[in-house]
Amino acid sequence: MNSEVRRAAQVLRAGGLVAFPTETVYGLGADASSAEAVARLYAAKGRPADHPVILHFATAEAAFDFAREIPAQARKLAEQFWPGPLTMVLKRSPKAKDFVTGGQDSVGLRVPSHPVAQALLREFDGGVAAPSANRFGNVSATTAAHVVAELDVEFVLDGGPSEVGIESTIVDLTSGVVLLRPGRISREEIEKFLQVKVKSPDASSPRHSGGLERHYAPKTPARLVPPHELDAEIAKHGATIAVLAFSKPDERVDYWIRMPREPQAYAQKLYAALRELDSAKCATILIESPPEAAEWIAVRDRLQRAAA
Ligand code: TXA
Ligand code: MG
Repeated sequence: MNSEVRRAAQVLRAGGLVAFPTETVYGLGADASSAEAVARLYAAKGRPADHPVILHFATAEAAFDFAREIPAQARKLAEQFWPGPLTMVLKRSPKAKDFVTGGQDSVGLRVPSHPVAQALLREFDGGVAAPSANRFGNVSATTAAHVVAELDVEFVLDGGPSEVGIESTIVDLTSGVVLLRPGRISREEIEKFLQVKVKSPDASSPRHSGGLERHYAPKTPARLVPPHELDAEIAKHGATIAVLAFSKPDERVDYWIRMPREPQAYAQKLYAALRELDSAKCATILIESPPEAAEWIAVRDRLQRAAA
């Protein structure tokens, strides 16, 4: 792996793209200081140029160099949750250029914990702009094979399946503490740790593509179905549907994936399951709604967008 990491860092330095594992999902990386490299990144993803990307660093110190104001709460969060599945949005320093912030005055910063991501970031020794390694709007990639199936990228580092399975929690700290995207690190955990109320985004919050209604979506239309309606839906549509559910497979349905009843295990499997059901090319993917409980919020968020 060491020599591969060194080659990957060289590709980044030369302005190329490298897909790499993180603990959340795979990222498609480019040198955050190079306008050409970042332009290549947006083209590869098919992503609109005004969408900001998250910058990845090996350490909090390196990350904070790209912010001009670091609230005490940001330092505390970094100490507690970095390296790990948390992204902070802070007021940018001159190091964070328009081409990574989408022209906004803030920047998204993250220090991932995956050992291969850490090795790459240390070896590269700079900021790596890395959106999730999927085409814009699609579900994220949680294995190297997902990346290769979807993107034409020079270099893919394989670090096995991502452990968290859904994208990082995003917290905006440019005014107060605002949760832009739920993830493994929950609102309650942050509130308890900081002893503050974490707000939800409003009209004045920064734009973020995870906030688009239809995002993280398979190509097959997906629909959320309450558990007590699943049987009637299957009776109605039978062989034309694929099902993602908690219960055991129903013989009337050819494509059925049974999901764990524990939210973190569910999240870990989610994108691979959606990709598999998508490839069955059924008319619809029926998804059994998970419980309303707070611990399911991040999963529910992704499912609602997949089904929007
Ligand atoms: O787990 C993750 O965060 C993964 C891995 C690869 O690190 N990355 C990821 O990146 O999910 P992406 O680009 O697919 O999603 C980043 C989200 C987008 O919704 C983007 O708009 C938002 O972060 N974002 C980035 N910078 C921002 C900023 N300055 N203000 C508001 N939102 C921002
Ligand atoms: Mg994404």
